[in-house]
Amino acid sequence: MKGLLITFEGIEGVGKTTQVQRAFDLLEAEHPGRVVVTREPGGTRAGEAIREIMLQSGAAYIDGMTEMLLVFAARRQHLRELIEPALQAGKIVLCDRFTDATFAYQGGGRGVPEQHIERLQDMVQDGLRPHLTLLFDAPVETGLARLRARKDLDRMETEAVNFFRQVRAKYLELAARHPDRIHVIDANADIETVSAAVRTILAGHKLC
Ligand code: TMP
Repeated sequence: MKGLLITFEGIEGVGKTTQVQRAFDLLEAEHPGRVVVTREPGGTRAGEAIREIMLQSGAAYIDGMTEMLLVFAARRQHLRELIEPALQAGKIVLCDRFTDATFAYQGGGRGVPEQHIERLQDMVQDGLRPHLTLLFDAPVETGLARLRARKDLDRMETEAVNFFRQVRAKYLELAARHPDRIHVIDANADIETVSAAVRTILAGHKLC
């Protein structure tokens, strides 16, 4: 495939979504009409409906393996309907979360065995992996404080501190395991410093 898949990861409240938008502006200036922004779970009609099921606040308990199946169902549709055609057309796809989130949240957070996630990854993705991943990292307390300043928290956001500690630890473990792909960015810094770090990484890949 001719395009590039760049994914953005991190626990809630680290400013990831703002950085996706800034990266879009930066890359679009350099590659007009070639950059696409999307998110998971979501990005398609079916995927957004699955996102609703995953995140609706006040929802009853959802089992960790059920969550894994939901996010991979959304991912399959996302790949077929949006990501693969975009990559075939040579686009740069910026995706707000992807499969590392499943390893971190369902694997690290919920304790779903990693081999189940690996198996679905193989089944659903036909060998596709992100070309580059930016992991925005900050202490859990920082992320949660930013989150709780907002009003309506979704189902995942109301999890206990310990859940997010496990998610963060798994993300850092993944970064250590895939040092060529996953770049860890200190998201505890101010927004301009974080944006500068993103720009340096994208420039290192000759994208801007
Ligand atoms: P967001 O708040 O960054 O839009 O992410 C949506 C939520 O979905 C977030 O709490 C993480 C969760 N999620 C998973 O648990 N597993 C996944 O595979 C993905 C993509 C997201």
